[in-house]
Amino acid sequence: MVFKFRKLDQIFDKKLIISFFCIPLVNPQKLGRAQELDLTKKVMAFNKRIKIKSLLESDFVGQEVTLMGWVRTKRSNKNVSFVALNDGSTINNYQVVADPTIIEEDILKKITTGTCIKITGQIVASQGAGQSSEISASFIEILGEADPEKYPLQPKKHSLEFLREIAHLRMRTNTFGAVFRVRHTLAYAVHKYFNDRGFFYIHTPIITASDAEGAGETFKVTTLDLKNPPLNEDGSINYKKDFFEREANLTVSGQLEGELAAMALAEIYTFGPTFRAENSNTTRHLAEFWMIEPEMAFYDAEDNQDLAEDFLQYVIRYALEHCQDDLAFLDKRAAEEEQSKKADQRSELGLMERLRFVTENKFERLTYTEAIDILRNSNPNKKKKFQYLIEEWGADLQSEHERFLVEKHFKKPVILTNYPKEIKSFYMRLNEDGKTVAAMDILFPGIGEIVGGSQREERLENLTARMEEMNIPQDEMWWYLDTRRFGATPHAGFGLGFERLVQFVTGMGNIRDVIAFPRTPGSAEF
Ligand code: 4AD
Ligand code: MG
Repeated sequence: MVFKFRKLDQIFDKKLIISFFCIPLVNPQKLGRAQELDLTKKVMAFNKRIKIKSLLESDFVGQEVTLMGWVRTKRSNKNVSFVALNDGSTINNYQVVADPTIIEEDILKKITTGTCIKITGQIVASQGAGQSSEISASFIEILGEADPEKYPLQPKKHSLEFLREIAHLRMRTNTFGAVFRVRHTLAYAVHKYFNDRGFFYIHTPIITASDAEGAGETFKVTTLDLKNPPLNEDGSINYKKDFFEREANLTVSGQLEGELAAMALAEIYTFGPTFRAENSNTTRHLAEFWMIEPEMAFYDAEDNQDLAEDFLQYVIRYALEHCQDDLAFLDKRAAEEEQSKKADQRSELGLMERLRFVTENKFERLTYTEAIDILRNSNPNKKKKFQYLIEEWGADLQSEHERFLVEKHFKKPVILTNYPKEIKSFYMRLNEDGKTVAAMDILFPGIGEIVGGSQREERLENLTARMEEMNIPQDEMWWYLDTRRFGATPHAGFGLGFERLVQFVTGMGNIRDVIAFPRTPGSAEF
């Protein structure tokens, strides 16, 4: 036996052996994989609970179950206490009924807003309005107390600004619970969309030595001693002595590496964090945001637009189908917020109406040149209401112009194409006019630019000429240029700012409220 055990020990790790010996005690067929693994630690599974979401989806009346979650509210009278419990699986709370003749007073006293509890009891049909069933507690365990004198979340309306200061707790509110469930669903839909169409997910590097967008807004990555860096003879910092033996930074975009992958796997996408040190304190900018960047060989500019439109409509439709409770809540929340705005600043459609509208209507496609004509002749331009007046072709569009086109003029998402080459990145394909490039920006109501992309310049001479004009060092980009030297083909891609998408779908006004722990100028708490 000892010998056998040693042998087993060599073949399996100890956990497996313990679970092996547990099999006769508990029927593992009845347990999920997670519980089976749990046996290795405790023999009896702790996490044998039902999620409130499952409880609300089917009929459990008459069954004994265990719930775990955080107390939202408790109200008591002489005969009974009612506890609203939330376990994060859904926006809906579940009612726990605690009879003081069954649950000790000491336990009941500790149940306050924020406390984490475990309840075992029977599911019974509910007498009260608002729920069809409830749990009649036969046993309650306090998993974690929350001192009501100190716990900052109380059952009342807190401002979003206040909640930003306690971002470590704000996910326990209805609003943020809903936002992060929707965010998850959208992320899942992104992967599903591309996977279902045969695109491959590529993980592009987070530390790079290039500035893909050429905007010079990178965060430096270094291990040099900032107080005493090694210097060159001319007094500049000697990065040859740095970790990577060169200057390095956090990526602003995975596109360039994405293009390399597309030249082999044909259709790829990235979905990762990107970093921009732009000092923009707006409701649409983060210093760390997540971007989805599909890149496709054998696509031209129009194929790229078709894909972007179909993709956006798909993920929004997916959220509409799979986040009904959360979106219904956010719809009501957004409607209340609209009421506090001046009448002329209110949006004409509610949140759900906006989402449906975008999924059901084709986006308006027009060129930059056409947009400039519309803007030049627009009322706010003539009446000098724009902060930046549109005077001539070539002007960069500001968010006030983008929003005018989308919200006032077309009243639907807009795909703007063929921008002047001077205001776009070096890698965009030069059009036949020699003045414009095959760029596209997608503009959304309430958001402005949500997508930026282009057909790429696959012709080596054009690309190197453009790099020269824009002072982009070619020797450092030899690997990028190689794709134009060997087996080049027309290709295109775009980048979707994930937080801007989440903002649009949840109706949240500030981008800081759709990412768990926002990084913005002057702020990197949590
Ligand atoms: O337009 P951008 O700068 O394009 C690129 O980075 C390209 N390399 C994409 C590509 O073609 N593969 O950024 C793309 C999108 C914007 O449209 C916007 O939605 C989002 O990224 N974005 C930001 N989101 C939050 N905070 C910021 N500071 C952002 N900057 C861009
Ligand atoms: Mg852009």
